Amino acid sequence: MAKKRNIIVGQSGGPTAVINSSLAGVYKTAKERGFCKVYGMLHGIQGFMDEQYIDLSTQIHSDLDIELLKRTPSAFLGSCRFKLPEIHEDAEIYEKIFQILDKLEIEAFIYIGGNDSMDTIKKLSDYAIVKGHDQKFLGVPKTIDNDLALTDHTPGFGSAAKYIATSTKEIIRDALGLTYNDKEAITVLEVMGRNAGWLTGAAALARTEDCEGPDAIYLPEVVFDIDKFLKTTKDLLKKKESVVIAVSEGIKLADGRYVCELSGGADYVDAFGHKQLQGTAAYLAGFLGAETGCKTRSIEFSTLQRSASHMASRVDVDEAFMVGGAAVKAADEGDSGKMVVIDRVSDDPYQSAAGIYDVHRIANHEKTVPRSWLNEEGNYVTEEFINYIEPLIHGNYEPFMVNGLPRHLVLKK
Ligand code: F6P
Repeated sequence: MAKKRNIIVGQSGGPTAVINSSLAGVYKTAKERGFCKVYGMLHGIQGFMDEQYIDLSTQIHSDLDIELLKRTPSAFLGSCRFKLPEIHEDAEIYEKIFQILDKLEIEAFIYIGGNDSMDTIKKLSDYAIVKGHDQKFLGVPKTIDNDLALTDHTPGFGSAAKYIATSTKEIIRDALGLTYNDKEAITVLEVMGRNAGWLTGAAALARTEDCEGPDAIYLPEVVFDIDKFLKTTKDLLKKKESVVIAVSEGIKLADGRYVCELSGGADYVDAFGHKQLQGTAAYLAGFLGAETGCKTRSIEFSTLQRSASHMASRVDVDEAFMVGGAAVKAADEGDSGKMVVIDRVSDDPYQSAAGIYDVHRIANHEKTVPRSWLNEEGNYVTEEFINYIEPLIHGNYEPFMVNGLPRHLVLKK
């Protein structure tokens, strides 16, 4: 009897505002291409190994549900941060995974994630080749960090950048409103992006006709010199009453320590050996307050920046949907061991298309901001950087509002 044409999709790593738009793209395209069942792994490969999965047709009943899913933040299926062992270290895990895939008659395995998650696609597709399994393994890019190689940018980044830039504008206005006859004030904003400063740099988008933008921006690509930081801030305070500074959660001192470690942050370490970073802005605001005597405030955007689907960029939502669909198409046409990428076709008007690359060239690599896209002092981004990210925040994808709040699609178990 002919094997059924089933497909399974999972979500992995830190969520974004548009990761579910990719899931919607996978589901819709799989249905259009005649796949029978579209399974969703619950909590990525980790849940899959415990046989935690669902038939997505029990969750998505109409085009309206697809539209709701596209507007729902976080990982609809649940996510994980799980590193598969090397094949020679634990072959049993792989045998188990392929047994489940065979049982479910899976033809294509799609994984939506960042560079750590692409490690899973790499290992599973390598194993399939060595053992002669015929399932196809495809990666769909995702991360607010924008640190994946070979893709012009990553789904999730544009919406997070839009949120950061908007909030930065609003914070700058708020701070200015309170400076009359008051002492000077300093606000330090903390943005995610462990080793890559793309998202922190996005704060510069706040510099518009009606806003001066942040006064300084510190990315993890440049060694953080706290003395220079203090001097720059003091110089700014001579010129203005309200100083707003954006810092990446991942800025490091010359000795390799994260700034947040100075206040005891970064204790928790995940499966990929990444420290959880938080408290950088709080530490620096305290430091500046003590050194200058000014009123200081720290704002950690934390998970707000990756879950703010109410302010998602239309470009981002559409591209996330596109890459999900492109992965299904690629698998259906016989590709495996690859990740879909976004190619920038033109800047004006901005246009993009889906491309595809060998996942071995992407997994575990981090694309950081080139030094030439920062000013000489290393405390602001250049015009070129701004021109690159600016089209990615365009357009809105309005939430469906119910009683004044956005409605989301929630998994029914
Ligand atoms: O990988 C994306 C990311 O949002 C990073 O920018 C951040 O350092 C990390 O996830 C935080 O992850 P968690 O929510 O697991 O602490």
